[in-house]
Amino acid sequence: MFICKTKFLKYTLHLQLSQIFKMSSRKLSGKRNYEDYEGFKRLVDTAKNIVVLTGAGISAESGIPVFRGAGGLWRKYKSENLASPDAFASNPALVWEFYNYRRHIAFNASPNKAHISLADYEKKCKKENRNLSIVTQNVDGLHLRAGSEKVVELHGALRKVSCTNGTCENVEENYDDPIVPAFANRGDASLDQADLPVIDRKDLPKCKKCGSLARPYIVWFGEMLDPDVLEEAQLLVGGCDLCLVIGTSSVVYPAAMFAPSVAQRGVPVAEFNLEEHPADSDFAFHFPGLCATTLPKALGLQ
Ligand SMILES: NC(=O)c1ccc[n+]([C@@H]2O[C@H](COP(=O)([O-])OP(=O)(O)OC[C@H]3O[C@@H](n4cnc5c(N)ncnc54)[C@H](O)[C@@H]3O)[C@@H](O)[C@H]2O)c1
Ligand SMILES: [Zn+2]
Repeated sequence: MFICKTKFLKYTLHLQLSQIFKMSSRKLSGKRNYEDYEGFKRLVDTAKNIVVLTGAGISAESGIPVFRGAGGLWRKYKSENLASPDAFASNPALVWEFYNYRRHIAFNASPNKAHISLADYEKKCKKENRNLSIVTQNVDGLHLRAGSEKVVELHGALRKVSCTNGTCENVEENYDDPIVPAFANRGDASLDQADLPVIDRKDLPKCKKCGSLARPYIVWFGEMLDPDVLEEAQLLVGGCDLCLVIGTSSVVYPAAMFAPSVAQRGVPVAEFNLEEHPADSDFAFHFPGLCATTLPKALGLQ
């Protein structure tokens, strides 16, 4: 299998601003097959290596806010501005409180029909000696909880914390909610930060191995993706013969490059999203609407 690695030179997580601009300015080419459920079904039922790329939109119907639009604000802060190493360095208590809130929402959410239909279709593929893998930008763990087995979590996971001490590198699962007692009774996203007592650094989550300050095991904007995880995703993307791209605005790189790279190889890409994006003008199929409705229908599982 040949993979052109030069296409994925930028391994740090970043937003492509020109892409955001194009989203509002460029006209869509209209080459796609809209809502061609029959045509898609014929392809999906014969594909040998299916890759499913998912973003925050697949979890929206489970009640987990997406980053862009009105749902992207926590208190008065833009979520994107808190998901950064600079924000953590200057105010770890604020960033931890944001992640404590996100963990609470994710731990209490249930997988929706879109997650479940992917898990069910993976089982069907297994019986037929075919493969379905998920490469997700999501950190909520809902694919695994839905029963999907082959899941690559590109941007980390809310259920994990890692040590900030470079010589320790401990990563552990932690389901405590709140993660430390200091965050008890502060879960309401509408509270004003200025009215809340400041949390001391000594009361923030600690590494269980060495006692240093812990941090969320999340790839923040400007940080490197784990090279092994990225390579695993590239191998799957480079070897697929059908790609589904579900609920992503395709502005966070490098994940946003995957589906266009598949389409450039002449492999069909099917997009499931409320909206259309200019990056998708080479995609073969577009299924507009809520993916918990469109996806089970497209996979013939409803
Ligand atoms: N659930 C999560 O784990 C979660 C939530 C928010 C942000 N994030 C992180 O933030 C970044 C956000 O980028 P992104 O592209 O994944 O999300 P995004 O917030 O930029 O975009 C969400 C996309 O989903 C679409 N969408 C929303 N609801 C939908 C629905 N019900 N059905 C179909 N489509 C729907 C929107 O039109 C939009 O294109 C990623 O890096 C991700 O790691 C993760
Ligand atoms: Zn440690």
